[in-house]
Amino acid sequence: MKGVILAGGSGTRLYPVTKAINKHFLPIYNKPMIYYPLSLAMLLGLKDILFVVNRYDLHHFQDLFGDGSHLGINIQYTIQEEPRGLAEGLILAEDFVGDDNICFMLGDNIFFGHDLVKILQEAKEDIEKNGGAYVFGYSVKDPERFGVVEFDEFGNVLSIEEKPKKPKSNYAVVGMYFYDNKAIEIAKKVQPSERGELEITSVNEEYLKQGKLKVKLLGRGFAWFDAGTHDSFLEAGEFVATIEKRTGLMIGCIEEIAFNNGWITVEELEELAKPLRKTEYGQYLMEIVQNNKLQGV
Ligand code: G1P
Repeated sequence: MKGVILAGGSGTRLYPVTKAINKHFLPIYNKPMIYYPLSLAMLLGLKDILFVVNRYDLHHFQDLFGDGSHLGINIQYTIQEEPRGLAEGLILAEDFVGDDNICFMLGDNIFFGHDLVKILQEAKEDIEKNGGAYVFGYSVKDPERFGVVEFDEFGNVLSIEEKPKKPKSNYAVVGMYFYDNKAIEIAKKVQPSERGELEITSVNEEYLKQGKLKVKLLGRGFAWFDAGTHDSFLEAGEFVATIEKRTGLMIGCIEEIAFNNGWITVEELEELAKPLRKTEYGQYLMEIVQNNKLQGV
């Protein structure tokens, strides 16, 4: 399976903050927003990642991540010329994806929770084995802001709607999707919505029509933020700060994950930490290096 992370768009909902800077580089507490979805992709074991970005911001993404080799992964980029909608990201990812399945993630979505990776991993394996599509529902107070999924007592999806005026459930569809390869052809047939965008919800609706859309709920033990508004941006940062200060463990630390996955050596981790050593982030990485060297003695 390949990872596709959507980081295009113009971020108008965060203006004037994002007039001169892409929202994905804004800090969620102590690291850029875009680290969070990338870290989740890495936790899922995905080593081939495509970022869909604006032409204008491409070199900033390249400055941040390069080709990913320092993390033991392969990062590529493709340009979305206009913010024509999330589903266009699937079309733009065609060459990169080839015949593979797809983990499709939104660059401004932040997740946290016990067994999150296990739940996502199960969905990933299901798609790899049986095909189809997986979406994840999360109970929110304001479902009309999101894609909304309605399901029966057996977990069968009944409907999925984009920003409905009268939501049929409180379950927002979060910005993390697993698709078989057919998603690309489905995306090509999607017509623009009223807001003029190729909606990812239209792709999901087509899977639903074919009886191939599955949903898993992320229950009370999870936190999910769509950091695309001022409030949710602030809340996500506060949440990360609270958990990190309490536990002493970082959320979304890509170098740590690369190391834990065995994709980089302790020496390579140390090289990444050195230039950052005056920061808390660098000291955190240095601690991992030192603990590991001690264990190795
Ligand atoms: C997008 C999707 C929506 C989903 C949301 C999650 O909304 O269209 O279905 O619930 O992301 O963050 P947008 O951010 O484009 O308004």
